[in-house]
Amino acid sequence: MRIDVVTIFPEYLGALDVSLIGKARREGLLEIRVHDLREHAFDRHRTVDDTPYGGGAGMVMKPEPWALALEQIAADSPLALDAEGETGRRPVLLVPTPSGQLFRQQVAQELSAADHLVVACGRYEGIDERVFHWAQEQYEVRLVSLGDYVLNGGEVAALAMVEAIGRLVPGVVGNPESLVEESHSDGLLEYPVYTKPSSWRGHDVPEILLSGDHGKIAAWRHEQQVERTQRRRPDLLERLDVSTVAQED
Ligand code: ADE
Repeated sequence: MRIDVVTIFPEYLGALDVSLIGKARREGLLEIRVHDLREHAFDRHRTVDDTPYGGGAGMVMKPEPWALALEQIAADSPLALDAEGETGRRPVLLVPTPSGQLFRQQVAQELSAADHLVVACGRYEGIDERVFHWAQEQYEVRLVSLGDYVLNGGEVAALAMVEAIGRLVPGVVGNPESLVEESHSDGLLEYPVYTKPSSWRGHDVPEILLSGDHGKIAAWRHEQQVERTQRRRPDLLERLDVSTVAQED
């Protein structure tokens, strides 16, 4: 998968060199390129923002540097039209913003099947809205939010999204089984986990996990998932079909 990230703080994305995502980059499973938006601003101060039409606090990101950056990336996309004709597919332009659709595990799953993602990190009060309409010619545009709170810009959200998407690309996580049982993969929170010693500072591992009875352990884990989802995130249960919550055979 190819991922391009456009930002005015390229150094923020340094974390993508570390751990599993860093390893996947070195192995060529993920090709991640980070671009400095200011390279597409040509005045003396490389200005990327201006005051908002209609008034109000803060600054808005100017459309032209974004258009130049996104045009260059689209022209260099692995999905770009080749000499024989169209590939018929567009890269996904992912725009982290608190006014976007909620970025859930299912969104990460959908996006992990894309060949080319471009992440546009806004700052200040956001990017001139016309950029998103203009970009639809070359991109499938998706505005996505990490949650109902406001960050200073899209970079931290981009890190979270690239990690959530990248780890679902086949080969990035060594043991694909670990992706099946984790929180949100089936709409429920994950069951509690324990390791040795079985008794620690007066706290014991639940007896059933030491029983060796795999059927009973699976049933207990499922109960725990439902119980903690009910307690911590009842909103998730409302989204689920009853048949998913009932224990499967
Ligand atoms: N940019 C600022 N706040 C954000 C949020 N909550 N999610 C995604 N991008 C953001």
